[in-house]
Parts: sequence; structure tokens; C-alpha cells
Amino acid sequence: MFKFGFREDASSIEENSEQEDRLEWIPATRLEITAEQLGAKYEADCYTETEAFPGCSLKLIRFDKVTQDLTNRNCRNVVEAESKHSDLIPGKYEGGLKIWECTFDLGRYMLKENIELKGKLVMDLGCGAGLIGLLSIRKNATVHFQDYNEEVLKSVTIPNVLLNSDDRTSLPTKCEFYAGDWASLATLLDDEKYDYIFTSETIYNPENHRKLYEIFKTKLKADGAAFVAGKTYYFGVGGGMRQFENLILKDDYFDVRPMWRSQDGVNREILKLTRKQDRTSVA
Ligand SMILES: C[S@@+](CC[C@H](N)C(=O)[O-])C[C@H]1O[C@@H](n2cnc3c(N)ncnc32)[C@H](O)[C@@H]1O
Repeated sequence: MFKFGFREDASSIEENSEQEDRLEWIPATRLEITAEQLGAKYEADCYTETEAFPGCSLKLIRFDKVTQDLTNRNCRNVVEAESKHSDLIPGKYEGGLKIWECTFDLGRYMLKENIELKGKLVMDLGCGAGLIGLLSIRKNATVHFQDYNEEVLKSVTIPNVLLNSDDRTSLPTKCEFYAGDWASLATLLDDEKYDYIFTSETIYNPENHRKLYEIFKTKLKADGAAFVAGKTYYFGVGGGMRQFENLILKDDYFDVRPMWRSQDGVNREILKLTRKQDRTSVA
């Protein structure tokens, strides 16, 4: 049975809710890609090359190099979570160091459906290692990467983007990086809206559903689409697709369509959100 590993392996939702009440979420910020990062050299032993999605081979920074880098930079939140073998610590570390299985579902789906991304503006929301964003760059999109933890962006996402880029000088015009909480992200972004927002394994915490939803509502183009990949239910945390879907349906702003479901193992699925025809922009 899939279950999140919490710091104290909390098993009751009540316990988690009390914890949520005390949480202070880190405000959103934009990270500029630095000259030092653009000039970084990665030896062959720093990364692995893997066929992440059918026909799409990606270079990915090795996990041991990441934890070493985080330790060197004294990033305590994330190192603490890792050292305690936690998947996440709500409000401190939100799981971006690992690659979660629905990322593979979503990437495979994007390729199978041949979603046209050339010239499109894409958000990889809750990106972690950023595989969906990397795939989108391969398909010639402009990509904004977002992760709650700045440390994840600096130690994992940005290195992965650099490792897979043949032309680093053009990166600052092709990619942007955002850290911090979804609640304040929308206020930070330009007026420009997204053609696509892709998000994988981001609906596990019901406390965050509305924040996530508001980003879709305020930041998608009128003819844009959001794809939400996730487990049908997250045991031990309380979040799940039906709960998130109900919130969307209640607002009556988007049409929601199930696009894919797993046939085996833990139930996983992908939903597509498109704005209802009779709805005008919220912004
Ligand atoms: C479980 S990880 C999934 C990472 C990646 N999408 C994958 O599938 O491998 C959850 C992601 O959502 C982000 N996230 C969770 N809660 C968030 C919040 N309140 N504000 C911003 N980002 C959040 C985390 O930083 C992380 O990137």
C-alpha cells in the first residue's frame, strides 16, 4: 500500500491537521539562473543518462551528488528530511528531491498523445527534478519550473536543465525558476498566461488544493489546459483526486476529463482541465 513517510510517521489525519495549523509557508520567489550555474561543469560521474520516457533519454544529476551538494551548502531542512528518510515535512520540505512515479505516467502520456508544445509557454508546477519541464524543453516549449524548495531547484532542477542543454546561453530566455508556496506564486508571475500547466504528485495534501486550483484558474490561457497526474488516494495524508476534482467541479469554471488510469498497482490517474466555453477570464 502506498503511504507517505512523515517525519514522525504520523498515521492520523487529525495529527497532520494540527501540524498544518502551525505551518508557515515560505513565500514565492523567482530564482535567477546565475553565471556560476551557467558555467558549471559536470563530470561524467555526476549524472546518469536514462531513457526517462519512451524515446526520450535525459541526463539526470545523481542523488548522492545532490545530497552532498546540499550538505555542503548547509541546507538543513532538506538534509534533515532526507536523513530521516521522510518523503516530506509539510511546509519545510515538499518531496522534490525524489522522482515520483506519476511523473513517468504524465511524460509517457504527453508523448503518446503527441501534445504539441513548440512555441508554447509551459509550467512544470511542483517540478522536483523537473522531468516534465525537460521533456517540454525537448519539444521546444518555453518552460517555467516551480518547486516549493529553493534548495531543490538549485541542487536538482537547475543542474538537470543545464545537463540537458546544448546551448546554455539561451537558457535564461527559455526557462524561469520559481520557489515557495503556491498561495503567493500567482502574484509574482507576469501577466503572461500559460498554454499548459503540467503537475504531478501535487494533490496529496488537501490543505493545498485551493492554492493549486487558483493557479490553474488565474494563470491558464483561455484555451489552455492543465494536466494533473496523481494517485487516486494518498494514504496517511488524506488527499486524493476525487477530493481535488470535487473542488474544481464545485467552482464550475473548468471542464474536467479523466485522460488516463493505471491498470495495475497503486491507482494512479491523469485529469485534464479546460476552461468552460461560457466562462470569461478571472483576471
Ligand atoms: C511529491 S513532490 C512531486 C515532484 C514531481 N512533480 C514528481 O512527480 O516527481 C511534490 C511537489 O509539489 C511541490 N509543492 C508541494 N506543496 C507545495 C506548496 N504548498 N507550494 C508550492 N509547491 C508545493 C513540491 O515542492 C514538489 O515539487
